[in-house]
Amino acid sequence: MLTFTLKIAEIIRENSDTVTLCLKQPGLKKIKYLPGQYLTLIFRINGRKYIRPYSFSSAPGVDQYLCVTVKRVPGGIVSNHINDFVKIDDVVEIFPPMGEFTFNPEQIGADKHIFLWGAGSGITPLISIAKYILHNKTGNKVILVYGNRNTEAVIFKDQIFALEREFQKDFDTWHFHTQLSLVEGYTNVIQGRISPETVLSVMKNETNLSETIHYICGPAGLKESVRNVLNKFSVPDENVLTEDFEVVKDLTDFEDITTQFIEIVKGGDRTKVEVTKGNSILNAGLDALVDLDYSCQTGSCMLCKAKILRGNVKMIGLKRIPEQLAKDECLLCCGYPLSDNVQLAVF
Ligand SMILES: Cc1cc2nc3c(=O)[nH]c(=O)nc-3n(C[C@H](O)[C@H](O)[C@H](O)COP(=O)(O)OP(=O)(O)OC[C@H]3O[C@@H](n4cnc5c(N)ncnc54)[C@H](O)[C@@H]3O)c2cc1C
Ligand code: FES
Repeated sequence: MLTFTLKIAEIIRENSDTVTLCLKQPGLKKIKYLPGQYLTLIFRINGRKYIRPYSFSSAPGVDQYLCVTVKRVPGGIVSNHINDFVKIDDVVEIFPPMGEFTFNPEQIGADKHIFLWGAGSGITPLISIAKYILHNKTGNKVILVYGNRNTEAVIFKDQIFALEREFQKDFDTWHFHTQLSLVEGYTNVIQGRISPETVLSVMKNETNLSETIHYICGPAGLKESVRNVLNKFSVPDENVLTEDFEVVKDLTDFEDITTQFIEIVKGGDRTKVEVTKGNSILNAGLDALVDLDYSCQTGSCMLCKAKILRGNVKMIGLKRIPEQLAKDECLLCCGYPLSDNVQLAVF
């Protein structure tokens, strides 16, 4: 896959466990992206290549740099590496921007109210969309509903306050904090989680609910709470977009999976790989140092597609099997060997 190398121009410490990397655009051919898309960063750590997607926290045409904001995941390899070791002037290899969780003013009319529902680091694509809509004066009203533990955990406080001041008429915010602490400057802070009841209170002033558009980025519970209420009010499915930062797996899906040896064929090379129970074929292949393309690890980017030459592979964690996937193909990030003779070809 085509890659670019970009220099880190600035690093912003958002809070104790979150950092924003601001990457300089290339001198000649600028990287184009849409608000809400993500950038895939490639790192080499202790001799292994790690590839991770991070949503843009910058907005095209608004921010000078390409920015991504990374929150530490406990025990996470890349998120902790970025928070602890990456420095200004380092160069980072990236894939071109990807993702369908975007705002397109031509498809979404100016009369539509845009609800942005997020929790924790799920704010990143939402702030990109909010900045884009408000600064470009698309005419849409934006309602940001943001859940956190407390005020310390809120990412982009200053940017949210600045948008509130500049775009009073078109921008409303609701903060939900599980530990309530009153801090100057915060209005609309409510104690508790974003639940079906609180979603209802946020929506109570909407007169034309079926015309609203919703972007949700956060844990499964948040998505469920918002969807529950939207379903009740017959908001069409196509008006609700969600972004998953990780796949939630159901342990019962692994009952028929056992540790297996498989063979991965790439070009002229064949590598025998042990896939231990619970490990995806992608992770097992990467651990065996097979050079595999991937990004999202949630079954949406299709970069990890492989052809099944022999045996059976079960896909776990996918909301639905992507239409573009042929019967004899699988996604390695969600793929687990079901039989002892699996042979896969990657490109
Ligand atoms: C489309 C997309 C956009 C994303 N955008 C952002 C973003 O803007 N900011 C951001 O901080 N992250 C974002 N992520 C998540 C990010 O790509 C990494 O998954 C995350 O940083 C963890 O990587 P790691 O190498 O530190 O953890 P790993 O070493 O890969 O994982 C360590 C452990 O943490 C678990 N884990 C993995 N990811 C998460 C997660 N997101 N939350 C909780 N537990 C997890 C794993 O199951 C594993 O047990 C995004 C993911 C996707 C798919
Ligand atoms: S890595 Fe994106 S679909 Fe598998």
